[in-house]
Amino acid sequence: MTTITFTLGVRFLQMVLLMVACMSLAEGFVMDGANTTLQARVQDLESMLVGVDGRLAALEAFQSECGCKGSVAVHSAFMATMANSLEHCTKNQAVIFEDVKLNIGNGYDNRHGIFRASVAGSYAFTTTLSRPPNFSYHVAFVQNVATNEISYLYADPINMWVERSTTVLTHMAAGDEIWMVCISDSHITGNLNHYAEGAGDFHSHISGFLVGAD
Ligand SMILES: *[C@@H]1O[C@H](CO)[C@@H](O)[C@H](O)[C@H]1NC(C)=O
Ligand SMILES: *[C@@H]1O[C@H](CO)[C@@H](O)[C@H](O)[C@H]1NC(C)=O
Repeated sequence: MTTITFTLGVRFLQMVLLMVACMSLAEGFVMDGANTTLQARVQDLESMLVGVDGRLAALEAFQSECGCKGSVAVHSAFMATMANSLEHCTKNQAVIFEDVKLNIGNGYDNRHGIFRASVAGSYAFTTTLSRPPNFSYHVAFVQNVATNEISYLYADPINMWVERSTTVLTHMAAGDEIWMVCISDSHITGNLNHYAEGAGDFHSHISGFLVGAD
């Protein structure tokens, strides 16, 4: 009994030792493999970070050059001329400038004569309007509702051609709209095709641009 027990005990010990050896071998193998993969990953990440650092440095250099740090540079500007004269523009009727010369950001809609702000900020608008001798116009820039006048331009009926301009600065929220309306019966001259060298296209026009985003 004692011999058998002893032999079994040795066998058991041998098996345990063998198992421990196998386990540590296997473990070493797995750990080495994992460590190699992990190291390769870390190296990849480190080189990616170097790339990101380079890009960040380039972006910061650009931002300090353009003075736009902290905000995204937005470009919004338009200009359109009036093609068809408005001979009887009545109260609250929109003044439409059909011929789009510039429309960066596509804020200006030449079917309705409306400019819509894509971002909140300060905007500048200018208009120049002509009218024939003995006619008059009274117009206003309006914001969001036809009665919310933010600027006014007029020409009384004297016996000479008249061309007048005005500029308005206003703050707009994103989605706000600006357009021009007549505030009493008005006559505004559009494109006079017979004028030489394209001057006929510039009797009446509108332009606007984003001065600065908020
Ligand atoms: C993984 O590899 C590194 C570098 O060769 C070594 O310093 C580290 O001890 C290894 N880790 C393991 C768990 O083997
Ligand atoms: C403008 O009105 C005045 C006064 O009635 C007239 O003498 C003049 O001929 C008119 N001008 C034009 C271009 O019709």
